[in-house]
Formats: sequence, C-alpha cells, structure tokens
Amino acid sequence: MNIKEIIKKSIADTMRTDEFSVEHPADDKRGDYSTNVAMVYFSKVANTAQPYSNDDNLYYLSKLQNPRELAREIVDKLSVDERLMEIIEKMEVAGPGFINFWVKDVVLIEGLNEMLRNDGHCLDSEFMSGKKVLVEYSAPNIAKRFSVGHLRSTIIGQALFNLYKHSGAEVTNDNHLGDWGTQFGMIIAAVEEKNLEVSKMTVPELETLYVNFNKRIEENPDLKEKAREAFVRLEKGDGAARKIWQECIAVSMKEFDKIFEKLDVTFEHEYGESVYEKMMPAIIEEALETGVAVKGERDALIVKFERDGKEYMPPAMLLKSDGTTTYFTRDMATVRKRLDDADLKSDLYIYEVGAEQTLHFKQVFEACKLLWEDAKKVEFKHVAHGLMTFGGEKMSTRKGTNIKLDDLIFRAGEEAKRMAKDDVSVAVADKIGLGAMKYNELKRSPESSYDFKWEEALSMEGNSGPYLQYVYVRTRGILEKAGLGGVRSLHYGRDDETVVNEDERNLARWLILRFGEGEVAESAARNYAPHLVCQALFELAQRFNGFYDRNRVVGVEEQDLRLLLVSVTGLAIKSGLEILGIGTVEKM
Ligand code: ARG
Repeated sequence: MNIKEIIKKSIADTMRTDEFSVEHPADDKRGDYSTNVAMVYFSKVANTAQPYSNDDNLYYLSKLQNPRELAREIVDKLSVDERLMEIIEKMEVAGPGFINFWVKDVVLIEGLNEMLRNDGHCLDSEFMSGKKVLVEYSAPNIAKRFSVGHLRSTIIGQALFNLYKHSGAEVTNDNHLGDWGTQFGMIIAAVEEKNLEVSKMTVPELETLYVNFNKRIEENPDLKEKAREAFVRLEKGDGAARKIWQECIAVSMKEFDKIFEKLDVTFEHEYGESVYEKMMPAIIEEALETGVAVKGERDALIVKFERDGKEYMPPAMLLKSDGTTTYFTRDMATVRKRLDDADLKSDLYIYEVGAEQTLHFKQVFEACKLLWEDAKKVEFKHVAHGLMTFGGEKMSTRKGTNIKLDDLIFRAGEEAKRMAKDDVSVAVADKIGLGAMKYNELKRSPESSYDFKWEEALSMEGNSGPYLQYVYVRTRGILEKAGLGGVRSLHYGRDDETVVNEDERNLARWLILRFGEGEVAESAARNYAPHLVCQALFELAQRFNGFYDRNRVVGVEEQDLRLLLVSVTGLAIKSGLEILGIGTVEKM
C-alpha cells in the first residue's frame, strides 16, 4: 500500500467515514499531505439533529466547539495507529481545521530505492488493473494528405495509450483509417477518365485529383452520375474499381507508415472504415425494428434524440435519401465490432479526434446506448483536440502556408541542429527535434488551440522537451563523474541516522509522492491529460536544478544519498518522457 493510501485508510478507520480528501498542501512548508476530514465531519454533525452520543467512537464530539478542536482530537486518535505512525513523522493542525502530515525521511529514502528497483515501471499505478482499454487515434484518410489534426491525434493518442499501459490495464489501439465513402467514386471515375496509374502517383496528387473532380461536378451533373456509378461498382466488388481503391490504399499507407515510423508509433489494429461496410445493413434493420431509427425527409433514415417529447440533441443520419450509408452509420458499426471482437472488447473506449467532431461522437455514443444494452455498460470518451496554427494561420495546402507538416516531422532534426550549440549527430538531433515538437503538443491540454513556434518548442529555458532531455543528460553526467556512468541503480539502505536537508527532502518528496506513488501517471490517465505529466516533470526538473545548484554531490559526505536522488531524478524524467513518447539522449 502506498503512503497516501495508508493515511486515507487510517483516517477512514478512525472516523468511520470516507467523506474527506487527502491532498498535497500548496505550500511545501505545510507538510506532505493534508486532510479536510475535521471540517467535513464537523459540518456534518452540526447539521444533524440526531445526537451522536450513542456512537462510542464519536461521543466526544458533543463537547467540541469548532473544527480545529475536532482536528486536535482526531490527531490524538490517529497517533495511536501503529501502521500510520510507522510512516508519519508528525501531524499538525492548521488553518480552520486542516490536519497536515509529514512523512518520515526514511520512508522517502526507501521509496527512492523502490523506484530504482521498479525501473521502467516506477511511475505505474494500479487504478485500472483488471480492466481493458482501447485507444483509437491518428485515423488519416486514404488518398488525402496526413493533416495537422492527424498529427495531434497521433501524438496525444499515443501518450494516452502509454498512460493506460502504465495504469494496470490491458490496452490495445486501433487506427481507424478513412478508406471508404462516396469520395472514392470520384477518385475512381477520375482515374478511369484519364487512364492514370495510381501506383505511380503520390498522396498529394491523389488529393488534387479528387479536389478537381469535385469542382467539375458542380458544372457537370454527368460526372456526378459517373462517380456514383463508380462507387456502386466499388461496393459490389467490381475488379477494376477495387484495384484502383486498393492502389490508393497502398500509396497512402506507404506515406503514412513513414510518418508512424518517424514518430515511433505502432498499431495493433488498423481497421479502416471499409471493414464495417458489411455490418451496416443488419444494424440499420435493427435500428428500424427497435424504433431507434425513423423515416426522415425523402425516405432518409434518422436517429432522433428526444426525452419527454423534447429534443436534447440534433438528429443524426443513418441512411441518406439516395440509400447510401454515412460516416455516422460506419461509426455505429465500429462500436458494434469493438463490443463483439474479443481482442477489441474493452471497458473504456477512447477516441482521440478533433473538436469539430464533438457532436458527431455524442450522437454515435448515445445512439449505440439507445440501441444496445451492452453499450450502456462500458465507457466511451471522446478526447477532442483543438486547432494548431502557424504564424496565426491554419495550415492549408492550397494557401501554401510556409510551414508544412513535413517540416514538423521530417525536418525536426534539422531544426534542432540549427539551434544546438555543439555539433550533434543526426540521431541525437532527431530525438531532440521530434521530442521538442511532441512535448510542445503535450504540454497543454488537448482541447487547447495554439500557434506552433520552433523557438518555443526548442527553448532551453522554458517548459520544453529539450530542457527536460538536458536535465536528464545532466543527471547522467553527475553519475559518470562519480564513476557510476553505466550504473543506474545505487543501493542506499534504510538508515535511521540519515540527516536529510531541505533541498534533498523537497526533491525526494516530489519524486516519491508525485511519481513513485503513481499519482502523476494516474491523474493524467484519469483526466485524459498528458500535460499533467509535463507539468510534474517540469517542476521536478526545477527542483532538481535548485538542489544541484546549492548542494555538491560528488566527493562530499552526503554523496550516497545525493547520488541516489540524482539517479532517481534521471530515471523519473526518462520514464516520464517515455510515457509521452519522447526519447532521451545520453549527451547533448
Ligand atoms: N478519418 C477521420 C478524419 O480524418 C477521423 C476518424 C475518427 N474516428 C472515428 N471513429 N470516426 O476526420
């Protein structure tokens, strides 16, 4: 059991309630943990007409005047809890009735050693153990360029995937490729019209082909009919249409896979929208039979969201009046498959997709719950990302904005090299550049919109990837100086005599109570908020620098303890960055 759990349990057992919280006080000087139990309890008693004197544990309450007095009584009761007193140095009543706790130094030192022993899992929590999670992210569209939105989804989605991997859950991921829809009718018609060889084309060329064809349709209804026919042929499995479609997929996936490789992302599943094609007729029928779907205008089928005769969400379209299915229909089928397939079935389904699709996902999840019992028993979460701009402009291929997605992904290393003082190798520059770009994305909450600037991403002074990579390198340098270069682990046994100074303590408690106890990774996962990891890492780096500026490490009497702190700081930064999908380097 971790420290916070021991404190919580002791309070709960003593007070026979779980209506209280245990938090870190905002000010370090006020201890390591703080509880509001006295205040909560006091107000509860004050508001109850029933006398509490029957309850032997609580008889004394009747005499108490205020929460502070109650807090003092609680402290007395807690001090006889042996398990608690094994780990707690002192307790103090503060403010209107908070109880503050100081953890024993030896407990912190033990915790540091434990983090070393747990190495790659030192930030793990257990809050999802026994549960299954599916994270869907990236999801680019075939025959269209990989967009900034897909980049954001890939980076945030991968971080969420990693976070849940460290929560005790069994996690899988799915790249929901956009490989179906009437636009393929246009592409096929355009390819056939010009007799093009798709396998020799690039993704931007395919995209232009579609864009131009779409424009011409406005003036020429014949083309619209051609595209419709082509899509029907594709649906029916016509060889020529299938071949063009398959080549579009091959050309696009070659490009996308390069991006995934560069970003170090792999998918266990890549079920494109086309996979759900066959499932849709049955779902539509089921929706009609159960009354979840009703006839709309011109024979379209829609799902209405009404409660007590009032509409709480706009209706969604299941089948268009021309009889074709929609993006919405395919997403319902996707949910069905994810509920049925053993390797996809989960307790929690996370979708990392742009904020512009918020209503769409609300409708999809709600419609599935209306239609299927088992959909009610699981959790769906749309993690929505905002807009990324460059120099205030939305990245647009047509406008020719000067920064391109390729610059962010494939030339990140060059950017890093340009800024680096010393000459660094290509591999190192790549890790720094890509780390900078990813961290710059992850350090803010997913829904925020922001303007991308390389100066900010690569800043060595601020909250950036390179700054943290640099602090990690610093820890490695110190260990090397102490002759411990290749060794990360360092034994420092329990020693009641150890004197821990304030800098050491502040660093140790941040390492143990935030990272080692799993708190940071857990709250980041629970809140779908990788930026909470960034915040804690940045604070750690600053604490470490403060500690190192004021305390010599190598060649002093306190060397052992201080080297332990240095090792664990390095380990926490490395593990934290790994969770964010960012690599570390040994020198920079
Ligand atoms: N391919 C879509 C797009 O680029 C995103 C897919 C999101 N996921 C989903 N299940 N609909 O906009």
